Amino acid sequence: MNLLLSCKALNSICCQQEENAMSKRLKRVVLLSVVITALLACSRQEEAPPAAKQTPQAGMEKARETMREAHEGMKQVHEGMVAGMEMGKAVYEKTCAACHATGVNGAPKVGDKAAWAEHLAEGIEHLVQAAIKGEGAMPPKGGNPSLSEEEVRAAVHYMIELSR
Ligand code: HEC
Repeated sequence: MNLLLSCKALNSICCQQEENAMSKRLKRVVLLSVVITALLACSRQEEAPPAAKQTPQAGMEKARETMREAHEGMKQVHEGMVAGMEMGKAVYEKTCAACHATGVNGAPKVGDKAAWAEHLAEGIEHLVQAAIKGEGAMPPKGGNPSLSEEEVRAAVHYMIELSR
């Protein structure tokens, strides 16, 4: 339990600089993944043969190692999410902003929480599919067929993050 608390403390220190940049939801995901990593690491440690716990020093070293692993895992999750958001931002700015920055032709405007709340009620997957296949005045993939589905998906997530 002490170990878990330390991991949490470590997490809050590490993430402090990114506090503003990251949304609350992303932070929750990161925290959750750290807790899971720590729990997994802790249970693995319990299964270790008694020899591994022989001295308090060995125990501490093991705990430090576990925390390093948890921290590394958290960093990777965080980097993955940042990369996804950057991809979404790039696609949005290049293709989607033409309509969604201003709300032309009834496109839900990015940042308009009320407008997006209505669309979000249908579920994120529905929105992703609508953006891929097109809907109403929106052409498939926002009119840019060279986009992969992954890129369109990232753009949808980016737009939603800015709109709630
Ligand atoms: C040519 C203008 C235009 C472009 C470019 C465009 N959209 Fe749209 N988008 C619209 C319009 C108009 C709607 C509303 C459609 C409707 O409700 O009939 C819409 C709706 C949406 C919705 C909500 C769909 C739903 O079912 O609620 C999403 C999500 C979306 N767009 C994502 C994107 C993404 C991602 C891109 C860039 C890859 C993009 N759009 C580019 C015009 C555009």
